[in-house]
Amino acid sequence: HEPDPSLFVIFGATGDLSRRKILPALWQLHAQGFTKQGLYVLGVTRDDNIEDDAFRQITLEAVRGADPNADAAALQEWVSKYVYFQDVDEDYAPLVERITALEQEHSLPGNRTFYLSLPPGAFPPTVEKLGAVGLNHGPGWTRLVIEKPFGRDLASARALNDLVHRCFDESQIYRIDHYLGKETVQNLIVFRFANAMFESLWDRDRIESVTITVAEELGVEKRAGYYESAGALRDMVQSHLTQLLTLVAMDVPSGLDAAAIRAEKIKVLRSIRPISPEDAVLGQYEPGQIDGKDVAGYREEPGVAPDSRTETFAALTLHLENWRWQGVPFYLRTGKRMPRRLTEIEIKFRRAPVWMFRSVVADELHRNTLLVTLQPNEGFSLFFDVKAPGEPFRLRRLPLHFSYDEEFAVLPEAYQTLILDLLLGDQTLFVHADEVETSWALYAPLLDGRRAVYPYPAGTWGPIEAELISSRAPLPGDGSAAPRGTRAA
Ligand code: BG6
Repeated sequence: HEPDPSLFVIFGATGDLSRRKILPALWQLHAQGFTKQGLYVLGVTRDDNIEDDAFRQITLEAVRGADPNADAAALQEWVSKYVYFQDVDEDYAPLVERITALEQEHSLPGNRTFYLSLPPGAFPPTVEKLGAVGLNHGPGWTRLVIEKPFGRDLASARALNDLVHRCFDESQIYRIDHYLGKETVQNLIVFRFANAMFESLWDRDRIESVTITVAEELGVEKRAGYYESAGALRDMVQSHLTQLLTLVAMDVPSGLDAAAIRAEKIKVLRSIRPISPEDAVLGQYEPGQIDGKDVAGYREEPGVAPDSRTETFAALTLHLENWRWQGVPFYLRTGKRMPRRLTEIEIKFRRAPVWMFRSVVADELHRNTLLVTLQPNEGFSLFFDVKAPGEPFRLRRLPLHFSYDEEFAVLPEAYQTLILDLLLGDQTLFVHADEVETSWALYAPLLDGRRAVYPYPAGTWGPIEAELISSRAPLPGDGSAAPRGTRAA
């Protein structure tokens, strides 16, 4: 099944996201033979003085930056035959002309993707202008891609959905959450629904807690302009962590199509009990050390207000009020400037109902635990207690382990996966309007900017206050950088 021939129009084509992710992904899809039917790229920005050749040069540099081993001759050919540029005026009439001309020149049937790789403020006018010149429906299919953040709260997300729905049907809209393009995230679906063994354990009778951690070593980098008005809840929790939660918690869908999976995810979101203030702790990093090097605090980063109250860390507990999960806490944690990059989902199983090993304390360390690691090493580990040789009973907790890089070659980039699905018209890995709105509604009580923001030194696992609501058990190999310990009872 190959994508139809089409034109791929990128708004914000010379911007950071386009250079880092979109253009390299389009090249990869071409190089791997996924776009043999023809995929022509049209970059659009307001930049003056750029023409086809200059944009081709930008594209070449972007691709080489992401893939230094790209075949030079093939890359040159791709760029000169398939990549074009158009700057835009106030209205999109000239854009219509250019699109039509390109489609004629290359005998394209009029299938079009409009990829909005733009700052949030530019989404609404761009969507409206597309609608105004009739680019919302073309001779073939028309798809609209919108990057996060999709709104900054429930009201703005609703307003944006309303606006987009005035010009585009939901079946045309592809809202990106790049976590859904990660191989391990999709593998959660296979892991859960192809292996009957786990599904029979996947509920409140067997599972005690679920902890989702997305820790980053990076700080705010050069993105203060955006991050200052976002913060960890908007930037990470509402989108990426919530998506992970829904995939872990959802019921078995009736099939693997987008509608079936999205319906189950929305049911999960609707079952989450409103968050109460004591279930969330926010933090902000202060100066500290990462890998032995001094790093600045958040308030000293360029572009950040010296008295900023933007949170760079969030830990929260969610309670799902449904038959499968009632009583099982879901702990979500994310932060910047943590000791190391780590994205994982820990499923902690209940302890043995009767503990017979008197010489061993039945503490957190002696639990079956399934650890799904997304970053930096993708794979699964299932931890068991085994008997260490010798007398009396000494127990050791050891993993059964599967890692992607030991079994498979290099994994595709998330953007490559998502763009291919988009070209194939598969919305499964994209976020539905209802998901976005339900998720914003859920976090609304935390978004008023009035909540305490506790400091934590860069290079630690977050403010001490967050220990109260995190329960990730230390695992073998955590060493000195162990995520914060067990729940402070
Ligand atoms: C982005 C956030 O969506 O995800 C960034 O805006 C964050 O702040 C990034 O750093 C993390 O993505 P990944 O794929 O590196 O885990």
